[in-house]
Amino acid sequence: MEEKQKDIIILAIESSCDETSIAVVKNGREVLSNIISSQIDTHKFFGGVVPEIASRKHIEVIDIVLDEALKQANKTLADIDAIAVTYGPGLVGALLVGVSYAKSLAYTLKKPLIPVHHIEGHIYANYIDNKELQPPFISLVISGGHTHIVYVEDYGKFKILGKTRDDACGEAFDKVARTIGLSYPGGPEIDKLAKMGDKNAIPLPRVMIDTDDYDFSFSGLKSAVLNFVNKSKMTNISFKNEDLAASFQQAVADVLVFKTIKACKDTGLKTLTLAGGVSANSFIRETVKEACDKENIKLSIPSLKLCTDNAAMIGCAGYYEYLKGNFATLDLNAYPNLKLDNIAM
Ligand code: KG4
Ligand code: ZN
Repeated sequence: MEEKQKDIIILAIESSCDETSIAVVKNGREVLSNIISSQIDTHKFFGGVVPEIASRKHIEVIDIVLDEALKQANKTLADIDAIAVTYGPGLVGALLVGVSYAKSLAYTLKKPLIPVHHIEGHIYANYIDNKELQPPFISLVISGGHTHIVYVEDYGKFKILGKTRDDACGEAFDKVARTIGLSYPGGPEIDKLAKMGDKNAIPLPRVMIDTDDYDFSFSGLKSAVLNFVNKSKMTNISFKNEDLAASFQQAVADVLVFKTIKACKDTGLKTLTLAGGVSANSFIRETVKEACDKENIKLSIPSLKLCTDNAAMIGCAGYYEYLKGNFATLDLNAYPNLKLDNIAM
């Protein structure tokens, strides 16, 4: 009789920005628990994430988050096979809380420690919601800190085809939101407002759409929005925030779609995945879906909870690193600027 393979249970920790999250993940793609404690209400008051406060808040809640993650998964620490943790990129103080916590757990439990790249985690969120998904595929990573078109060759093997030359896509959403008086994080606010606006009302540039590469630039678009708002104020011409939000989203989506579909066509890959916080945007989800349907490209987008920061995606990536035996020693550090195609292990 064939022996059943032992389940691999990974405890994963994510603390790279303003979410303290711990998850228990079975065999890479089955999420037993995914607890997320968000600090948004604290940082909202300052209009953005305050790094020092973020680190302190992670320390305050991480024990409680761990207890809840184990409880929901109906597991104890004795059931855990390995500890996965985000070790970069992100805010160094915030990352260090998760890394130190993971190291002490690995040491006490005598279990392997698995270092995970945060963006690798975002991409792997797709494996959780789409059980059939296998590399190779193209991934459009759009988060608060990154905008990349990535060629995912295999598990743990990435080639960055293009990226933003300045601001990240999410950063542009947050800055534009701030310009029109919306609270942090601005992405979800713009998303809501845009539903009531006219996307053709305000002419905005499609920056770098004509360049023969896969790169982006969002700072020019952000400046164009700022100039439009200032000029309108000076000339006493009123506009609707709803129209600005919708026109901005359309300008972002046009460039994202054009360059990503070009990457799929040029590489001949027929599968595209979205990843990162901005892939929670309803208009971008819709627009990319329409373009993929037209081009006969299979699209995978994580569920909303798995688009923004969470530890389940780190547990999924951790599992595939576990299979390869990519373990860290207890002198693992946090790397705020860690690159995806140059994982520093
Ligand atoms: O991936 P994420 O949670 O953290 C980083 O790794 O950066 O992304 C956060 C970003 C923020 O800029 C936030 O405004 C944006 O994702 N975001 C959205 C939406 N939900 C979150 N942007 C547009 N529309 C949304 N619905
Ligand atoms: Zn993230």
